[in-house]
Amino acid sequence: MNPITLGIETSCDECSVSIVRSLSNEPIPEWEVLSLATFSQIKLHIPYGGVVPEIASRNHLETINPMIIKALSEARLDYNDIDNVSVTNRPGLVGALLVGVSAAKSIAYATHKSLVPVHHLEGHALSLFLDQRQIRKEIKFPLLLAVISGGHTNLYCISTPPREWSRTILKDSLIGKSLDDAAGEAFDKTAKILGFPYPGGEYIDRNAKNGNPHAFELPRALPQKKVLNYSFSGLKTAVLNLSKKLKSNGTLESSIPDLCASVQEAIVDHLLSKMFLSIEKYRCQSLAIVGGVSANSRLRERLKKECKVPVFFPLLKYCTDNGAMIAAAGNLRYSQGIFVRGKELLQLNAFANPDH
Ligand code: KG4
Ligand code: ZN
Repeated sequence: MNPITLGIETSCDECSVSIVRSLSNEPIPEWEVLSLATFSQIKLHIPYGGVVPEIASRNHLETINPMIIKALSEARLDYNDIDNVSVTNRPGLVGALLVGVSAAKSIAYATHKSLVPVHHLEGHALSLFLDQRQIRKEIKFPLLLAVISGGHTNLYCISTPPREWSRTILKDSLIGKSLDDAAGEAFDKTAKILGFPYPGGEYIDRNAKNGNPHAFELPRALPQKKVLNYSFSGLKTAVLNLSKKLKSNGTLESSIPDLCASVQEAIVDHLLSKMFLSIEKYRCQSLAIVGGVSANSRLRERLKKECKVPVFFPLLKYCTDNGAMIAAAGNLRYSQGIFVRGKELLQLNAFANPDH
């Protein structure tokens, strides 16, 4: 049996619905994405320099139904062809999550399907196995999984393939995390200081290509070898002070490429150093990087050159938040018998907290 899952993601500023089909029942899964319909709210939040929760939930309400209809029509399927529905119900902006959860509950209840609540980070982890055939053969465990997004910078040592994952796999395998800002937040906040729109990671990446990564000396936090955690708040303060100094002597504008390259290098250095320590300490056989920041070109370039174990990334279109990764996670849990049905599914709630 190759179950087909409809997945809904509304935890932040992307309203995304996707339909995926399982292609293998092997321990390492493989999913084919039949459709992916996403509305990105980024333009609505740009004037405020970050995501405004109330605007996010109101916009999800307007776009969720069109996205569901688009995903079904792109896949040339209707509700009868779907085996189950899955939805991100934690963590995230609670008002935004509730829109997706309510839509998923309505579909599942009205069409008598099973419903799978999905942890957003589990979705990012499984984005690796979307439309990528070769990974199944090449990935080895224990795997160092780095979830690097706008909200999280977490390192996990995963010892079993996805179909053997327990319900608490991410909680149980966490070995390091950011103690303050996430890496994506560090990109976004320093980009804001340098005058770029939200979210700034992509702008820093692009402008850094014309700059010198060693032009400015910026701090790398927690240099102790035993520590596998991250900290990015000192970098933000250093960039703020440096930009004030450059502004006062009239060289800020001309220094933007060098500043972007130096900020990016500081973030990438810090990310890599803790990943390499973790690989050594836990004897990991491969490394997988998922989440929005995994799109960063310098991170990819340096990993290719410096990492001693094979490195895997999701396809670029599945790095940022999307419904396909949520459908994949729902599809996996459904095959493990983890779902709710009938009146029980009406109790499902949304939670801001990642540990719920
Ligand atoms: O995973 P994601 O879409 O959303 C969260 O769950 O947070 O990640 C968004 C983050 C933002 O901070 C954005 O600036 C960052 O990913 N990002 C990048 C790049 N593309 C997106 N950061 C650095 N370089 C990029 N090319
Ligand atoms: Zn995310």
